[in-house]
Amino acid sequence: MEIITVRHLRKTFGKGESAVKALDGIDLSVEKGSFTAIIGASGSGKTTLLNMMGGLDTPDEGEVIVDGRNLAGLKEKELALFRRNKVGFVYQNFHLIPTLTVRENILFPLSLAGACADRVFFREIIQMLRLGERLDAYPHELSGGGQQRVAIARALAAKPPVILADEPTGNLDSKSGQNVLGLLKLSAETYRQTLVMITHNLEIAQMADRVVRMEDGRICT
Ligand SMILES: Nc1ncnc2c1ncn2[C@@H]1O[C@H](COP(=O)(O)OP(=O)(O)OP(=O)(O)O)[C@@H](O)[C@H]1O
Ligand SMILES: [Mg+2]
Repeated sequence: MEIITVRHLRKTFGKGESAVKALDGIDLSVEKGSFTAIIGASGSGKTTLLNMMGGLDTPDEGEVIVDGRNLAGLKEKELALFRRNKVGFVYQNFHLIPTLTVRENILFPLSLAGACADRVFFREIIQMLRLGERLDAYPHELSGGGQQRVAIARALAAKPPVILADEPTGNLDSKSGQNVLGLLKLSAETYRQTLVMITHNLEIAQMADRVVRMEDGRICT
């Protein structure tokens, strides 16, 4: 079963001579529960594609359907709800809030939504990500790998069916990178989530069910 369908997606940034075709006709289906790695040179359109799948950016042409929802049909408020409930984002630079503790960072998106955390689930992911001892610490007190584990817990807290990760191991040494990747795979398997991950690391890409290579805004086959 497909959980993400991308059809004929096009996106150009800028106008006239400085226009860049970031996406030049992308078609892609992602199977529910699968792990897809997106690879390709810098500037090939990987982040642009991931942002479209997460409803963070809108295409010029084409459509994105996630978990039965056509994103083009959603109003701004509905898109915000979609992002909150359906996708968890993990970034290369962690994007944690420095003045909040680990616990507060993880619960921040839920608190913004006025939603309560599922306490049992919270404990479960904290345990899985080995953050139990660090809940009252601040992000700068953790290693890079530790900070990324917090970002993963934050992405998981709302139990989204889809996790979109943009070079999540890019700022980590190879050992913490492998560790973080293992945890992302474990959580995806445990919670039957679909994982789409951009990576420059071919070793990591090889652990995916499927590798999608991008070049100049297109998918190479
Ligand atoms: N908001 C934007 N405004 C203008 N140009 C943009 C914008 N976002 C992306 N681009 C351009 O679109 C192209 C694709 O960018 P994108 O960030 O998707 O590439 P990428 O494959 O993720 O690269 P990297 O590996 O460096 O992260 C690049 O030429 C980039 O400069
Ligand atoms: Mg990118």
